[in-house]
Amino acid sequence: MVEIPKLGLGTYGRTGEAGIAAILKTLEIGYRHIDTAQSYDTEAGVGEAVRRSGVSRSEIFITTKVADTNLEKSQFIDSVERSLETIGLGPVDLLLIHWPSKNDAVPFEDYMLALAEAQRRGHTRLIGVSNFPIALLERTERLLGKGAIATNQVEIHPYMQAPKLIAHARRKDLTLTAYQPLCQGAVASDPVLQRIGGKHGVAASAAALAFLMAEGHAVIPASANEVNLRANWQARAVTLDSNDMQAIRALHRGERSINPDKSPAWDD
Ligand SMILES: NC(=O)c1ccc[n+]([C@@H]2O[C@H](COP(=O)([O-])OP(=O)(O)OC[C@H]3O[C@@H](n4cnc5c(N)ncnc54)[C@H](OP(=O)(O)O)[C@@H]3O)[C@@H](O)[C@H]2O)c1
Repeated sequence: MVEIPKLGLGTYGRTGEAGIAAILKTLEIGYRHIDTAQSYDTEAGVGEAVRRSGVSRSEIFITTKVADTNLEKSQFIDSVERSLETIGLGPVDLLLIHWPSKNDAVPFEDYMLALAEAQRRGHTRLIGVSNFPIALLERTERLLGKGAIATNQVEIHPYMQAPKLIAHARRKDLTLTAYQPLCQGAVASDPVLQRIGGKHGVAASAAALAFLMAEGHAVIPASANEVNLRANWQARAVTLDSNDMQAIRALHRGERSINPDKSPAWDD
């Protein structure tokens, strides 16, 4: 089974040459997992940065996501093939449903079977979902079988730890990918995370990422700043003790910042 590298780079908002430069810097530092989406306008930049980097394609894990505007049966596979063409690096490693279709406006079975079909055609090594609550994960298992999806990418950071979803994911042995793991940079000024980071000789952001990875999640922080990219990368070397873990668990306050109208009924 292909593993999702635990620490990746989010690319939302990192468009154009500045985005390419940030991704190139990331690859130079050592990151080997890049998260893009049809709706981010960064698929082409990811492909360009990887080609310019000289790092072998086989060493890099690339995720893209099918937009909610492309879920219809008649559009799904074409949109995936357009993504592969735009990225220009062959099949992706992970293909996600970016958002479920609210109230089944597009039938659930249609887009989930299309996702499995994309994998069957070799367009992606792994498939997964994003922004799925437990009820939709259970429907997914009934439709595609146990272990069919590699991850559910959801908002998780120290202030939003999604306890019910995490308990479900652990029961099902499903990896969660924490998006917005730094709460858009807010964790950097958190006194608890600063103290714990200081104790381990790293930034508060690295303490937050180390915590999330110790909880079993993959994380995809975004940055265009070399100092921050390097600080975040250091999280891989941090081992938090049980007091640190407990102190960070206590920061949970159900603070969700991504909650558009199209959101499903969340579990927490
Ligand atoms: N599936 C979904 O629906 C979904 C939704 C939202 C996001 N995502 C994915 O998750 C990725 C990450 O989310 P995000 O970009 O919204 O939020 P984030 O990673 O939590 O935070 C990014 C912000 O934190 C700052 N930052 C990064 N490292 C820092 C550090 N060490 N110290 C201080 N500030 C730091 C960055 O600024 P600088 O550039 O100045 O460092 C940026 O403003 C996205 O890029 C996207 O790939 C997915």
